Amino acid sequence: MCLCEYGHGDTTRTVAKVTHRGLFGHVWLFVSLMVVLLFVSCGKSVIIDEYSIIPQPVEITMDKGGFTLSSSTKCYAGNVGQNDPAIKYISRMLRQWHLNPVLVGKPQTNCLQFIINETFDQELGDEGYSIDIDKDMVKVSANSERGLFYGFQTFVQMLPEDISSVRYSKIVLPACHLKDYPRFGWRGSHLDVSRHFMGVSQVKKHLDLMAMYKMNKFHWHLTDDHGWRIEISKYPLLNDVGSWRVDRDDQPWGEADPPQPGEQRTNGGYYTKEEIKEIVAYAAERYIDIIPEIEIPGHCCAVLESYPELGCLGDDTTYTVQYGPYWPPRAILCAGNDSVMSFLKDIMDEIIPLFPSGYIHIGGDEAVKYNWERCPRCAQRMKSLGLQNYEQLQGWMIVEIEKYVKRQGKNIIGWDEILEGGVSPDATVMSWQGTKGGIVAARKGNDVIMTPTDFCYFNYYQANPDFQPPAMRNTIVTLHKVYGYNPMPVGLNHAQQKHILGAQCNLWTEYINTPEMAEYMLLPRLCAMSEVLWSPESSKDWDSFRHRVASHCIRLESNDYIVGSGSFQPWMSSEKSSDGRLLVTIHWEREGTHVYYHTGDGHFVRYTEPFTVDAGTKVTTLSFYNGILREKAYDFVIK
Ligand code: ACM
Ligand code: ZN
Repeated sequence: MCLCEYGHGDTTRTVAKVTHRGLFGHVWLFVSLMVVLLFVSCGKSVIIDEYSIIPQPVEITMDKGGFTLSSSTKCYAGNVGQNDPAIKYISRMLRQWHLNPVLVGKPQTNCLQFIINETFDQELGDEGYSIDIDKDMVKVSANSERGLFYGFQTFVQMLPEDISSVRYSKIVLPACHLKDYPRFGWRGSHLDVSRHFMGVSQVKKHLDLMAMYKMNKFHWHLTDDHGWRIEISKYPLLNDVGSWRVDRDDQPWGEADPPQPGEQRTNGGYYTKEEIKEIVAYAAERYIDIIPEIEIPGHCCAVLESYPELGCLGDDTTYTVQYGPYWPPRAILCAGNDSVMSFLKDIMDEIIPLFPSGYIHIGGDEAVKYNWERCPRCAQRMKSLGLQNYEQLQGWMIVEIEKYVKRQGKNIIGWDEILEGGVSPDATVMSWQGTKGGIVAARKGNDVIMTPTDFCYFNYYQANPDFQPPAMRNTIVTLHKVYGYNPMPVGLNHAQQKHILGAQCNLWTEYINTPEMAEYMLLPRLCAMSEVLWSPESSKDWDSFRHRVASHCIRLESNDYIVGSGSFQPWMSSEKSSDGRLLVTIHWEREGTHVYYHTGDGHFVRYTEPFTVDAGTKVTTLSFYNGILREKAYDFVIK
């Protein structure tokens, strides 16, 4: 978004002119300075010349003229009412930015209007909204409060990028008509707080980010080998023991030293029930459901150190809350022990009342069956149930828990391994090992959330590892790659496609040990994911997104978020040129990157426009940003 400032320049020049005028001049200077100070204290003025909205709305038509937002602008909450949660949120944000419109009882000129439609607009649905801006008003309308909330998020993105840190007295918004609604209902973001604990304020900041980008499902990975993160009254050792580990944050994750005898456990923490309630309420204010994840039956070192009797007979491993890589993850809850089932049901009894969302995530991933294969109790359970293999044993355990939570009105979600043991028709499958789990599940009639590692794992590098802080090395998930993701797998018929609820990005935190690093990995890739999930597939346009995301990087930084650098690795496309040679275009992710290239003579020139070469020519590139070399040299052979 470009901002054309006006007002300041002229006033400042007036001051400069009077500085040589004797006593009268000094009085005049003083008066002028006071005027300037008054003006400055009232804020800057700006004309917005371009909207940069992410996710891209379904339809936006620009019109002539515009609306001037100023201190005299009013706000009409109409049929919604001033005490409506969405309106309270909107008023609070506007106040924070010193845009403090007086609430009025009926629509009038110079007014922001937030209206719930009298008759349901089918096209907008439950989450959609429209915005109409003309010289008299900004009108946001929707069928629901949720829709109004999303409309407000779009309205905020029409304001200057630095609205949260700079005081504005006048903002001129170009007239437009906008209609918007989401492509998918599940627009998720996952956060692993087990590998590294994140405090309440950091979680809230994550939720703010989700709200900005109209994401609506927060998958909270609360338990794993590296820590148990939620208060459980009936099993206090989960918190006194299972929530703490030795601190190895000064060592590379892959090289963490084992605990020393008697060493204090200083790394960790957990959320009290009061904190959970506070975060759930904070999320609800932002129309975000929280889905808690309790890992069953694997990824349970924190449980087994706290309550070793929940492990298998014959497993003489001394489990400890993990502090570095743990592979293969052999810790597993005994499926043959009735106390384990009672334990899990007790945990559900404490979890369910805290989370109003309709889902509990029960994990189910990477449960290594090594101990089950050696445990007489597990063997006995299999025999009595007539089960053929250990996958079915896991399936039985999960279905037992599913039946239990269903009695309390909840459905389960599990990672795609839950397909291996016979999944119930009401379970929702999270497809992470590629897309095949999602396809199988949708064909069976199960609901699906897509989160394949290659596109959705934001703990993976976003760029060439040689130029990045340490991260998961599996593959590189660039912003461009995320943007290119289509959550709808190919090969499903219309009825099966309906089971694809949406997708989510995942932030596993092995390598992420500070809030800043979490943001660095999440941003701006979350912007791409939000557009993938919200905007129509037909509106996808990388060049447009790349331009808008540059504006969002400024907006996010001005909101105190750390934004990742992105990838500086260029890529090329070519087409036949009129002279029979090949016309080469160089592409890159980040606006502002300077790419230099040569075609074999070693003489680098800055790329400014497509150029022609013969087929087979080798083109070598270098990428600079802010004057710093950000990538190694790449060679491309043009075909
Ligand atoms: C997973 O990444 N283990 C779900
Ligand atoms: Zn067992």
